[in-house]
Amino acid sequence: MANSFLSFPILGSFLLFLFAISGGSLRPANGQASGQGLWCIARPSTSDQALTDNINYACDIVNCSLIQQGGSCFYPTSLMNHASVVMNLYYQKVGRHYWNCDFKNSGLTVVTDPSYGDCKYQYAN
Ligand SMILES: *[C@@H]1O[C@H](CO)[C@@H](O)[C@H](O)[C@H]1NC(C)=O
Repeated sequence: MANSFLSFPILGSFLLFLFAISGGSLRPANGQASGQGLWCIARPSTSDQALTDNINYACDIVNCSLIQQGGSCFYPTSLMNHASVVMNLYYQKVGRHYWNCDFKNSGLTVVTDPSYGDCKYQYAN
C-alpha cells in the first residue's frame, strides 16, 4: 500500500521531467515564434540576391571584417556563410528579438552555436 502510494508521485515527477526536457529541446524548432533563438543564420535556400541584400543591410550596422579577406569567417567564401555570420552580428547588436532575425523571412534563429573552426559566432548577453 505505502509502496504504490509513494511510487505514483515519483513516476509522475519522472514523466514531468521527461516532458520538461523534451519541451526544452523542441522549443528551438520554433525558436523564431517563441523568441528563444540565441543565434541568427540565413535560411537555407535563400536566393543569392536576398543574401547579398542581407549582407549589405547588416554591414551598414555592424563591423563586417570577420567575412572580409583575413577575417576568421572569410572561408568558406559563400554568400550563405557570409550572410549568416553578419546577420548574426546584426541580430546580437540590435537586441536579439526574434524580429531582428526576420530579414524578410530569410533569417532563422537557432539555439545551437553555429561557430566552426576559428569562426566564432558572436553571442552578446
Ligand atoms: C572592425 O573590426 C576590426 C577587427 O577587430 C578592426 O580592425 C576595425 O578597425 C574595425 N572597423 C571599424 C570600422 O570599426
